[in-house]
Amino acid sequence: MRAPLIPIQILLFSLLNCGSIMAGLVKSDTEDFIDWWPHTVFYQIYPRSFKDSNGDGIGDLKGITSKLRYLADTGITATWLSPIFQSPMVDFGYDISDYKAIQPEYGTMQDFEELIDTAFELGIKVILDFVPNHSSDQHEWFKKSAAKEPGYEDFYVWHDGILQENGTRVPPNNWPSVFYGSAWEWHEGRQQYYLHQFTKEQPDLNYRNPRVVQAMDDVLLFWLKKGVAGFRIDAVNHLFEDESLKDEPLSGKTADSLSYDYTKHIYSRDLPEVLEMIHHWRQLLDDFSAKHPERPTRIMMTEAYGGLTQLADYYEDSNGVRGSHLPFNFHFITDVKGDSDARDYVYNVEKWLIYMPRGHAANWVMGNHDNPRVASRFGPASVDAMNMLLLTLPGVAVTYNGEELGMVDYRELSWEDTVDPPARNVGEEHYKEVSRDPVRTPFQWSNATNAGFSTATKTWLPVHPNYLELNLEAQKAAKRSHYQVYKDLLELRKSGIMRVGRFNIEPLSRWVFAFKRSYPNFESIITVINVSDQEQLVDLSEFLSQPKKLVVEVAGVDSKYQTGQPLAASALLLAAREGLVCRLV
Ligand code: NOJ
Repeated sequence: MRAPLIPIQILLFSLLNCGSIMAGLVKSDTEDFIDWWPHTVFYQIYPRSFKDSNGDGIGDLKGITSKLRYLADTGITATWLSPIFQSPMVDFGYDISDYKAIQPEYGTMQDFEELIDTAFELGIKVILDFVPNHSSDQHEWFKKSAAKEPGYEDFYVWHDGILQENGTRVPPNNWPSVFYGSAWEWHEGRQQYYLHQFTKEQPDLNYRNPRVVQAMDDVLLFWLKKGVAGFRIDAVNHLFEDESLKDEPLSGKTADSLSYDYTKHIYSRDLPEVLEMIHHWRQLLDDFSAKHPERPTRIMMTEAYGGLTQLADYYEDSNGVRGSHLPFNFHFITDVKGDSDARDYVYNVEKWLIYMPRGHAANWVMGNHDNPRVASRFGPASVDAMNMLLLTLPGVAVTYNGEELGMVDYRELSWEDTVDPPARNVGEEHYKEVSRDPVRTPFQWSNATNAGFSTATKTWLPVHPNYLELNLEAQKAAKRSHYQVYKDLLELRKSGIMRVGRFNIEPLSRWVFAFKRSYPNFESIITVINVSDQEQLVDLSEFLSQPKKLVVEVAGVDSKYQTGQPLAASALLLAAREGLVCRLV
């Protein structure tokens, strides 16, 4: 039995009565502290792969609703759903043909309302994916724009292209699309090129046109009125392009002019106008929250793989204007690798906290539907340690579905089964280098047919063959499992110290780092992680600087340590890739 940690009510009381202490806390202020979102775990559901309720091999809304109890039992209180809107599914929902309709293969609007109601009853907030940069080419806006219908002429980014001396017409500039190939596509009907930063079926909307901004505001309000707690905003840094549409300078990274790496994206990405749009949407959310206080604060999370200064500005610009509640921090995906050492981890944590403006909540994203899973990036032995890292750092944690089980990428997925557009674009020889299908295979619920995901004969992506051993049911039944470790960590997060404890992090050696959440007169929580493939012996005494007893709070699946076991701080032996969460009593 675990000894009780500080109940949140006691800490809250002591904090609210001791304003000066707040300043010493990790960049969170009183307002943030009492709101629902700054300490929450956001669980990302990829709807197509989560749970199929009608046996067509594709996940759906009723399937999600049937599993909300699972989320609640695990200790999850917020989920963000990848797109569920009407779509031809060229980019699996990131190509929307009606922003206010549910994709029929996922269900109906009534199914969505039931999902929201069930989530509300279970205390789970629902965040929707908002994809503003581009629609589908099947959207009526695009069709009207292509036909130059009045009011829609400039909904998208159109250009005549350049007529060369030999009479051939070529695209207006050298911009490549993120998904390979030119970012311009010729439209026979309109006799012009249109811009698409992703697939050619995803034309870029023109945010310099106020009608587009207005149309998107309507979309946001539509879903807010349905009771969602906010939005994850897709590809936000792609919203604006330089009006000159000039050629971009070459990056020198590749000679392949069709590769996204070919140019430096100085005219097609990260333009200053992006920040203005983020501020505009923040205002819309704040106004809605103020008018409808019966539900919790509506928030935005923004997706942009960008530099630290840029992401810090998304939180709050140099004039103090607040924007994104949570600009996704992808550093554990992009800047820390399987061979990174303790200094790399510490540096990546510190740099986010240093750049983040005061009064905001840190966030840590460990995985998503676009990047290899933890078990595949760091190796299966790292699963528990990485969940410990994610879930004991201060602030918000973002978990991609399946990471609580340590699901593994299905890298052997064949070319025939490959459906991801960037993978199809680069062809059979190179698809494995870019395909996102391996991280999107169905959730592994049990060892039943199709891992309990679906009763169909064929699922939209094949199930990873390891499901017979690696599945939720087995992990629930096991004496110890990744799932149980994950659940224990969520339980631990409920304690006050995990919300407001002062934070410090240090490398203890080349391969081991530790961090501490502490608060005067309360028990501290220490996380210590070995990121090497070898056993490591470390001395924690200087780091702890308190002659107190260290006991195990959460240990990994294969650990020789057990919860409640006392540890010798001066000589702690950690197995390869082992993480431990301990308590100072
Ligand atoms: C980012 C999304 O996460 C990804 O899945 C999608 O393909 C692109 N944006 C385009 O919408």
